Amino acid sequence: LKFVCYSNDGVDDHMMCLIGLKNIFARQLPNMPKEYIVRLLVDRQRFGEIAFCAISADEQVKGYGTRLMNHLKEHARDVDGLTHFLTYADNNAVGYFLKQSFTKEIYLEKDVWHGYIKDYDGVLLMECRIDPKLKYTN
Ligand code: ACO
Repeated sequence: LKFVCYSNDGVDDHMMCLIGLKNIFARQLPNMPKEYIVRLLVDRQRFGEIAFCAISADEQVKGYGTRLMNHLKEHARDVDGLTHFLTYADNNAVGYFLKQSFTKEIYLEKDVWHGYIKDYDGVLLMECRIDPKLKYTN
């Protein structure tokens, strides 16, 4: 028995496995719309969601949050091929995200992200375009 992780990376064998997996999910989770299963399994995402972001209380406002975000941007771009981040920012963290080049305007088309990330109340959806060339870390 072995466990492997596959993504839609253009390798035919991997796509065959994803289709097999789609069939298992569709059969075993009959309440899930099939299009939704296919979308989550097969679509290649251009964006990543920052679901959680926190620094220990006694280390906050020392620049670690900025450095963490810069590493994340570089990794997401260079390793995962992402172009954008989305986040539902808590109201008290909006200032931090603004300083990390997140905007309150969402430029990504809604059908690209809607249904992929969880909606929350009392938070603000923010977007960040990852610069394709910028060196974010030293
Ligand atoms: N509101 C406004 N500005 C902020 C905030 C804030 N809450 N936190 C940091 N900043 C500013 C800093 O003053 C600094 O400004 P400067 O560049 O002009 O000096 C800049 O943002 C960067 O600050 P860092 O020191 O790099 O940020 P820090 O290491 O404190 O990390 C973080 C920021 C992650 C928000 C941290 O304060 C934290 O863990 N807060 C509590 C948890 C939280 O609210 N997390 C975000 C929830 S939303 C989510 O998880 C998707």
